[in-house]
Amino acid sequence: MQETADIEVRPFSSREEYELMVDYFLKADDWFLRGMGVDRLKLPLREKWLDDLLVDYRKPDHQRDRFYLVWLLRGERVGHSSINNIIFGAEAFIHLHLWKPELRRAGLGTEFVRKSANFYFDRFQLKKLLCEPWAENHAPNRVLEKLGFTLVKRYKTIPGVIAYEQEVNHYELLHQTK
Ligand SMILES: CC(C)(COP(=O)(O)OP(=O)(O)OC[C@H]1O[C@@H](n2cnc3c(N)ncnc32)[C@H](O)[C@@H]1OP(=O)(O)O)[C@@H](O)C(=O)NCCC(=O)NCCS
Repeated sequence: MQETADIEVRPFSSREEYELMVDYFLKADDWFLRGMGVDRLKLPLREKWLDDLLVDYRKPDHQRDRFYLVWLLRGERVGHSSINNIIFGAEAFIHLHLWKPELRRAGLGTEFVRKSANFYFDRFQLKKLLCEPWAENHAPNRVLEKLGFTLVKRYKTIPGVIAYEQEVNHYELLHQTK
């Protein structure tokens, strides 16, 4: 397992961080996008996407459409998580992305998602986190299982504005109060 002291999550804090996230999607090849359920034709144009993100960034938490955390490995930005469909005090959908392929499958994603989930539970006072990866995308499915998310159902849907119709696994994680 990765040394947790090496990894950190914190909210996006600059336009540059939104650019890194947007470019991760816009510069990805079709095969990679398809493998995580994303339809390239649904990706917004770069400037419009960034403008909309920055408008949302300035809103108070209970009005946010989406909230982003950058993933830091020994201080270097290597990925992000976000939540959307946020119902403050209740629930939100979580997303997970390690930008650098060479860092995948080494246990990092699991630890970053663990930290991200704890952050969201706390800041948005959530009772549960939901996630709907494409059923055949093994990495996120396995990460969620390892972190104790419960598989509730498998069904066909369009799981987001940039997604195509697909079979997803719907997972939920309840907030454990100490
Ligand atoms: C999803 C993601 C964040 C997971 O991070 P990661 O660092 O690769 O995952 P981990 O190394 O913590 O692996 C967790 C488990 O998943 C398994 N796993 C990871 N990648 C896998 C793959 N491609 N195929 C099968 N299993 C995989 C690991 O073996 C591990 O299980 P184990 O402990 O039983 O062996 C990362 O793979 C990623 O960013 N992928 C591309 C983007 C993506 O698909 N995001 C999800 C969109 S819904």
